[in-house]
Amino acid sequence: MNESSRLYQGDMLDVALLLPPESFRLIYLDPPFLTGRERVGSKPEYAYNDGGSLDTYLPWLEQRLIAVKKLLLPDGSLILHLDWRTSHHARVMLDRIFGMNRFINEIIWHYTGGGRSKSRFSCKHDTLLWYARNDNPYFDIEAVRVPYKPASGYAKGGIKAASGRHYQPNPSGTPVDDVWDIPIINPLASERVGYPTQKPLRLLDRLISALSAPGELVGDFCCGSGTTLVSAQKLTRRWVGADVSPAAIACFVDRFRSAFPNQSLPVIQKVD
Ligand SMILES: C[S@@+](CC[C@H](N)C(=O)[O-])C[C@H]1O[C@@H](n2cnc3c(N)ncnc32)[C@H](O)[C@@H]1O
Repeated sequence: MNESSRLYQGDMLDVALLLPPESFRLIYLDPPFLTGRERVGSKPEYAYNDGGSLDTYLPWLEQRLIAVKKLLLPDGSLILHLDWRTSHHARVMLDRIFGMNRFINEIIWHYTGGGRSKSRFSCKHDTLLWYARNDNPYFDIEAVRVPYKPASGYAKGGIKAASGRHYQPNPSGTPVDDVWDIPIINPLASERVGYPTQKPLRLLDRLISALSAPGELVGDFCCGSGTTLVSAQKLTRRWVGADVSPAAIACFVDRFRSAFPNQSLPVIQKVD
């Protein structure tokens, strides 16, 4: 663990209020989505309530986003991860909090697996809203190039324009766009820890690689099983994690210890 990484158990609002302003390069938030059901994982204690109504959910979220924004460096970024239920409300809310011109991308995380609907097109994507504090956020597209599609001219050795000019492929592949095909964690995947709605490391690896540099501070204040923190640790970023659920924090602690057996963890600070 880097000396300045920290772990809190408490409401993300209370945690945000005690952290230093303008210190985070990237904050990723994957809060409850308002699915209307209790989310339960492989153990009864791996659970969180995802019910409620829009009338209470939106003010709850807004209060926390306002607090979290203050923690970002001037060229830092927020990623808010939601789905079709609330992402449109959240986008309008974030336009208000950050300013419309601070909206950078709506990233679509497309996945397959799970059941298929017969009454409508199956919902197989989440929406990640990227807002920045100023109009020149840190961004390293080179860190996240992906292989060319096999049918692409570049994959076949390059493209010859009508002018005769030859465009060579980049050995690292093509810059990634805003639709990301990343599989959900399959039941046998070694990274699965049994926490409900655990996100894949590949998703967080890409976000952290593009939106922060090694040594910088990354935050996740509803961290669940701590996917963001594990990715940040692996990618040599400093991190601050929080979750209101003691079981989530315990889950992350087990996960961290098995992923990084030689690293020490910060003392868990309880925030009431
Ligand atoms: C969608 S899950 C996060 C999953 C996580 N990204 C992962 O990969 O495991 C949402 C988390 O938000 C936490 N949570 C709910 N309300 C919270 C609050 N007010 N403050 C902090 N965490 C909260 C829940 O306990 C739950 O762990």
